[in-house]
Amino acid sequence: MVSNRPKNIAIDGPAGAGKSTVAKLVAKKLKMIYVDTGAMYRAMALFMLDEGISPDDREAVEENAIRADICIKYENGVQCIYLNGENVNDRIRSGEVSMAASKTSAFKAVRERMVALQKELAAKNDVVMDGRDIGTCVLPHAYLKVYMTAPVSVRAKRRYDENMAKGIKSDPEEIEKEIRDRDHRDMTREESPLRKAWDAVVLDTGNMTAEEASDRIVSWM
Ligand code: DC
Repeated sequence: MVSNRPKNIAIDGPAGAGKSTVAKLVAKKLKMIYVDTGAMYRAMALFMLDEGISPDDREAVEENAIRADICIKYENGVQCIYLNGENVNDRIRSGEVSMAASKTSAFKAVRERMVALQKELAAKNDVVMDGRDIGTCVLPHAYLKVYMTAPVSVRAKRRYDENMAKGIKSDPEEIEKEIRDRDHRDMTREESPLRKAWDAVVLDTGNMTAEEASDRIVSWM
């Protein structure tokens, strides 16, 4: 019997492991839709910052999460994140939003809203979805699950190089510390912590280019 269920790929892993770059390449090669769930959590964090709500204030964040209307649209093949009608792609990548997203994404009400939206997208399309809880929580029946990782020094160097390419000066040691802090928070939180799903394949991208990593994943399909 041929199944009509979408063939989804779940990619999880810590910050800087190369998930989004590789997932985008995989989606292009397999003609699937790329869904960056981190961008959704970032948009929620941006909403709280814009509203003057502290990302540490669980009660206020949970109470106000309902006011953030977050949706994904695809414009010329590029994923655009809309927050209450505004395209916020250019506003969600700052260090401030990264740190705030790591905090607000730990709260139950935030996760419930985002996970429902992500499941809906994956039920309708063949998606390559990346995040922290995709294989363990959002898509437990994904066709393929990948846990992507790399040594923290490599991940920090990648973030540093990305910043340099954008003309942003940063301190390598500070970046490595930020990554360690975020890893710790993402892995130890109560709600859907970052974990390798039992049936996920581990892909260490430390010595790989994004092109090589994406080819490896395509070969598993
Ligand atoms: O992948 P990213 O750096 O853009 O993610 C931003 C934050 O959002 C990260 O600290 C953890 C959180 N996140 C999450 O909790 N669950 C996901 N599925 C994706 C991201």
